[in-house]
Amino acid sequence: MQAKTEKEGKEKEVAAAEDLMREHGILRRTLLVYGEAATRLTQRPDSVSPEALQRGAKLFRSFGEEYHEKQLEEAFIFPALKKKGGEAASLSDVLITQHNRGREITEYILSVTNTAKLGANASALAEALRGFVRMYENHSAREDSIIFPAWKDAISGAEYSELSEKFEEIEHQQFGEDGFDDAVKQIGEIEASLGLVDLAQFTASIPPPA
Ligand SMILES: [Fe+2]
Ligand SMILES: [Fe+2]
Repeated sequence: MQAKTEKEGKEKEVAAAEDLMREHGILRRTLLVYGEAATRLTQRPDSVSPEALQRGAKLFRSFGEEYHEKQLEEAFIFPALKKKGGEAASLSDVLITQHNRGREITEYILSVTNTAKLGANASALAEALRGFVRMYENHSAREDSIIFPAWKDAISGAEYSELSEKFEEIEHQQFGEDGFDDAVKQIGEIEASLGLVDLAQFTASIPPPA
C-alpha cells in the first residue's frame, strides 16, 4: 500500500515545458561531467575512467538524443515553431544542426572510450568534450529561454495540455514508468564514480577584499 501511495504522489502532472527543462537538467549534469573530464584529461589523462565517460555518453544518447531531441523537440516543438515563423523558427534550423553535430561527437566519445586506457586519444577527446559542452550549454539555454516559451505561445492551451500528457506517454513507452527517475539515478552514479557528487565542493571561495 505504501508503494502505491508514493506512486500516486508522483502522478502529479508535469507540464510539457517543465518536462523538457528538467530533462535539460540531466543533460547539463552530463555536460558538467564532460567539462570536469576534459580538465582532468588535459592534466592527468590516467585519472579519467573511460567507463564513466562511456556511461555518460550512453545516457546522453538514450535520454538526450534519442528521446528528448528526436521524439520531443524534432517531432513537436520545432515543427510548430517553423509553421509560425519568426526568430524561434530560424533558431530551430541551428538547433537541428547542433543536434546532429552532438550525435557525431557522442559517436566519437562512445568509440574512443571503448577501451581500458584513453592514452593517445586523451587530448583530442578533451577537445571534443569542450566543444560539445560549449555548444550544448548555449543550445539548451536558448531552448529554455526562447524556444520553449515561443512554442507555448504558438499553440493553444488545450493543445498544450494534450501534449503534456503525450510527452509523458512517450517517456513511458521509451523508458517504462520511471524514465526520469532512472536518469537521475544514472547521472548520480556517474558523478559518484568521478567524485563529483558532493554539491558543497562547488561552493565558490570567498572573494578577495574589494
Ligand atoms: Fe535541442
Ligand atoms: Fe533540448
